Amino acid sequence: WEGHNGRPIRQRLLVVANRLPVSAVRRGEESWSLEISAGGLVSALLGVKEFEARWIGWAGVNVPDEAGQRALTKALAEKRCIPVFLDEEIVHQYYNGYCNNILWPLFHYLGLPQEDRLATTRSFQSQFAAYKKANQMFADVVNKHYEDGDVVWCHDYHLMFLPECLKNYNRKMKVGWFLHTPFPSSEIHRTLPSRSELLRAVLAADLVGFHTYDYARHFVSACTRILGFEGTPEGVEDQGRLTRVAAFPIGIDSDRFIRALETQDVQNNIKELQDRFAGRKVMLGVDRLDMIKGIPQKILAFEKFLEENQHWRDKVVLLQIAVPTRTDVPEYQKLTSQVHEIVGRINGRFGSLSAVPIHHLDRSLDFYALCALYAVTDVALVTSLRDGMNLVSYEFVACQESKKGVLILSEFAGAAQSLGAGAILVNPWNITEVAASIKQALNMSAEEREKRHLHNFTHVTTHTAQEWAETFVSELNDTVIEAQQRVRK
Ligand code: G6P
Repeated sequence: WEGHNGRPIRQRLLVVANRLPVSAVRRGEESWSLEISAGGLVSALLGVKEFEARWIGWAGVNVPDEAGQRALTKALAEKRCIPVFLDEEIVHQYYNGYCNNILWPLFHYLGLPQEDRLATTRSFQSQFAAYKKANQMFADVVNKHYEDGDVVWCHDYHLMFLPECLKNYNRKMKVGWFLHTPFPSSEIHRTLPSRSELLRAVLAADLVGFHTYDYARHFVSACTRILGFEGTPEGVEDQGRLTRVAAFPIGIDSDRFIRALETQDVQNNIKELQDRFAGRKVMLGVDRLDMIKGIPQKILAFEKFLEENQHWRDKVVLLQIAVPTRTDVPEYQKLTSQVHEIVGRINGRFGSLSAVPIHHLDRSLDFYALCALYAVTDVALVTSLRDGMNLVSYEFVACQESKKGVLILSEFAGAAQSLGAGAILVNPWNITEVAASIKQALNMSAEEREKRHLHNFTHVTTHTAQEWAETFVSELNDTVIEAQQRVRK
């Protein structure tokens, strides 16, 4: 994160994302503590070290007073972060509303919230207006800190208007936009009332990136079908102006995990966990508590496995870490109660006075505790109903050099395209299939585990976050140079 490492600084990079890598917690009128934020975007971007990077985003809190804003700006500056202050109403309409109640479920093929369809449709216009306003607020902060030659890298579905806002300020700004979620089929995207405006705003960027080729293809077809623009092998063209569109699969900073495993703290933690779960196989789920992660489906599949395999009942435990997220959005509140209800029922059904089959934690773990947990796991369960990439699967693989455990991975996660050959791929909606995969994973021979692990480990340690960022930024630089050459001709 420091961006230096004593090596020559290559380029100034302004990373713009809704959420900063640290979230602020107010401790006093002018005192703040900063905690690492959750999510794949943060986890990947923390691995991007070779740029002179500044991060612009929201610190996750409402700070109405100037003294508080000044103090927080100062505290964040030490982490090379620059805050965008959003008031409560904007957060409600833009973040909880348009981003997380409309775009997020739609991009993950979950449609609009079921019970709330009409209400959502009615509040759509005001939420969209707040979305545009918030994007303009981010653009204002970027513009204030921008220097000639900087690369501005905008991230995710929160900031689809940002490329257009930035180019309105300065046509010469090098602007890239990367989506961390899936981009859905054009048939889904075209149901959005603001479908055209969003696409046009993204196309103002010089380079548009996705995790997979499929998402890039969906985006190009949305532009051709909805806007009538031309799709070319390079991207999307309109009246001679090309926006380059391509796939840039993200990775993690695998060395950080591998190094952590060697520390005494993690080694002690590993020993403790091994003692605690001695005689039982450990299965692990680590997710934000989000509908897209398929947590209820995963737990129901585990229940089915216990039902069908009586002799495994006291020999296996499922540890599910569910990190609370977007807790003001009603759909997320409902999910929390639903998961608690299912876990309680299954533990009541299969537990004994001395042990329960599921340990469910509604909180995040610190980095070292998480590494230890990954290292002692026999089977990791990633059952996302849809997921842009899913870096938990990468983190698990990075920590498995000695154990060589099995990864059960949803075919609807972007990671299925990179780790598919090493993982057991499943359709998370089919709990019979997932239950059978759990059995297959627990019974897998050491040779097969080793072969599968090697495939995944090689991928995770070679396709890193750093490589991802370097490829994106160098492609962005090239794209801008090529565009300038085309204009000169
Ligand atoms: C996903 C999104 C990120 C987001 C993260 C956490 O990974 O792609 O943009 O930051 O979830 O969600 P939150 O709403 O807490 O920022």
